[in-house]
Amino acid sequence: MTERFSAGRGAVVTGAAGGLGRGIAERLLTEGVQVLLVDVDPDRLGDTVVELSALGQVAAVSVDLTAPDAPATVVSAAAQNLGSIDILVNNAGIGGSTHVHEVEEQRWRDVIELNLHASFRLTRAVLPDMMRREYGRIVNIASMNGMTGFRRSSDYAVSKAGLIALTRSLAADYGRHGITANAVAPGVVMTPLAERMLASRPQWYTRANIELKPIARTGETADVAAAVAYLASDEAGYVTGQTLAVDGGLTATHYVPDQFSDER
Ligand SMILES: NC(=O)c1ccc[n+]([C@@H]2O[C@H](COP(=O)([O-])OP(=O)(O)OC[C@H]3O[C@@H](n4cnc5c(N)ncnc54)[C@H](O)[C@@H]3O)[C@@H](O)[C@H]2O)c1
Repeated sequence: MTERFSAGRGAVVTGAAGGLGRGIAERLLTEGVQVLLVDVDPDRLGDTVVELSALGQVAAVSVDLTAPDAPATVVSAAAQNLGSIDILVNNAGIGGSTHVHEVEEQRWRDVIELNLHASFRLTRAVLPDMMRREYGRIVNIASMNGMTGFRRSSDYAVSKAGLIALTRSLAADYGRHGITANAVAPGVVMTPLAERMLASRPQWYTRANIELKPIARTGETADVAAAVAYLASDEAGYVTGQTLAVDGGLTATHYVPDQFSDER
C-alpha cells in the first residue's frame, strides 16, 4: 500500500494541547507528518509535546489565536520547525452559550472571533506559500451545530456555519492552485469542551444525544482524527468544499428509536 502522505509533509494543528486537536495531531504524527501544535495554554501544550514526541517530529507554539499578530507568530514557528505548511487544521474553538434572547453581546463576539475570524486570519496567512508551492490541504473543524439548528447554541452555530461557508469559498478560490479545503463536522465527543457543555444541561440531554441517532454512542476523538487524516492526505486531492459529518448519523437522519426506555 502506498503512503497517504508524501515524505516531509508539515501540518499546523490549532487547539492541539488537548481534546480533538491533540487526537488529530497524534494521528497525523503516526502517519509520518511533521506537526506544529498551536494552543493558548502553554502548560498543557508543553506536556502534550513531550507525550507525542515519541510518535514523530513535533513542535509547539503557544499563542492566543485571537491576537492580531498570531498568524505571523504561527507562520514563523512553522518556518523554523516544519519547513512548509502543507496542511492547516483550524481546530481551536470555544463552545456556545445560550438562547438568542439571553446571549451576551461580548460572548457572541468572542465565540465568533475565535471559531471563525481567527481561522480566517490564520488561513489567509498560510495561503500565499501554499499557492507558491501549488499544494495545500485545509481542514476546518466545524460542528453538527453549523449544519442543523440546535437549541441554546446560536453563537456557536453561527460561528460554525460561517466556517463551513469559508470552507466552500476557499475550495472555489484555490482549487486551481492545488489547494483543497474541507470541513469536518463532529457530533458530541467527550472532550473538556463537550463536558462543559453537557454539565450545563439536564442529564436526559446527554441520553437523547446518544439515543436519537442511528449509531447510539458518543463520538471518539479517533473518529474525528481519522476523517481529518483522510481529508488532509495527498490522496484526497479530488475532494474539496465538503463538510463531512462525523456524528453517528445525527444530522443526516430523523431517527426515532423503537422505544425510549433505559434499555438499549
Ligand atoms: N468535543 C465536541 O463534542 C465537539 C463537537 C463538535 C465540534 N467540536 C469542535 O472541535 C474543536 C475542538 O474542540 P474540543 O472539544 O477538542 O475542545 P477543547 O476545549 O477540549 O479544546 C480546545 C483547545 O483550543 C484551545 N484554545 C482555546 N482558545 C484558544 C485561543 N484563543 N487560541 C489558541 N488556542 C485556544 C484550548 O486551550 C484547547 O486546548 C472546536 O472547534 C470545537 O468547536 C467539538
